[in-house]
Amino acid sequence: MKKKSIAIFASGSGSNAENISRFFNRHPSVEVSFFLTNKPDAMVIDRAKNLGIPCHIFNREEFYDTNRIPELLIEKGIDFVVLAGFLWLIPSNLLKSFPKRIINIHPALLPKYGGKGMYGSKVHQSVIDNKEKESGITIHFVNEEYDAGDIIFQAKCAIDENDSPESLAEKVHELEYLHFPKVIESVVLSQ
Ligand code: GRF
Repeated sequence: MKKKSIAIFASGSGSNAENISRFFNRHPSVEVSFFLTNKPDAMVIDRAKNLGIPCHIFNREEFYDTNRIPELLIEKGIDFVVLAGFLWLIPSNLLKSFPKRIINIHPALLPKYGGKGMYGSKVHQSVIDNKEKESGITIHFVNEEYDAGDIIFQAKCAIDENDSPESLAEKVHELEYLHFPKVIESVVLSQ
């Protein structure tokens, strides 16, 4: 039987993309077969090369004004889309092609600290500025708004008074590495 195929979109370093790909390496029924990025100089492109996974680089026009991306994903037999540090809003043609099959990770406990402009260290800075006692990760389905789709899973970490946005980002990344692949696996296998 054909394995379920995942495509990962990432705009930056891509450490989650790599971690997820390694998790599914030699998995009996799920594989990561394609990376996509909107950033021609993103580190995720080097990671894709090292992993032997093809990576497609696209621009704003291709993403928002054409059907090329959904067509490419269908052509490549992709069943699920994972956003791992991808910063652009997903257009409706892509949502329609993958209903309840696009999953995002957000580095905070939604519904707080989400929405447009809330990404990277801005999230961690706001959490610390607001003197929150805990933060964490939220894995959710993607809809037409930023960070607003149905929540699938959350995990928490404690914040102490010495935490900086950088140290909090590290704690959050640890949670991401631990949970994101397993949550993706359970969603993919349940559909
Ligand atoms: C992660 O913290 C993820 O939650 C957020 O962007 C970051 C991406 O990190 N959406 P990396 O590129 O996977 O290292």
